[in-house]
Order: sequence, then structure tokens, then C-alpha cells
Amino acid sequence: MNDVKPDKKTDFICHCSGTTVEKIKELVDNGIDDLDNISRLTGACAGCGACETAVLDLLAEYG
Ligand code: FES
Repeated sequence: MNDVKPDKKTDFICHCSGTTVEKIKELVDNGIDDLDNISRLTGACAGCGACETAVLDLLAEYG
């Protein structure tokens, strides 16, 4: 049986916009570490909003 642990690099954090965890980390690395700007640049949290907690958690963890 395959290891089902997802590859974090290609994990979608926002399915509405197709934004990956890696993409958000890339923005944070470039100094863009607030939800408003990340949302504006990627479209994350601009659709259904279901990913907002996950994005905020990622920013708290990584940002
Ligand atoms: S999953 Fe991110 S806005 Fe819907």
C-alpha cells in the first residue's frame, strides 16, 4: 500500500483558486505575509472562504 501522506509542496491550500502551500510559502519568503495581500495575489480566500483558517494557520506557522 502506498504512503498516503500528501506531498506538502503540491498540496492545495485553496481549492477555489488552486493556490498551493508552496505558493504561499514563496510569497512569505518574499515578504508578503498578510492575508489581504496573499488573497489579492493568489485569489486564496477570495472564493468560498473555506481555506481562510488553513491559510492563517500556515502564516502563523511559517510566516
Ligand atoms: S478554498 Fe479558498 S476560497 Fe474557497
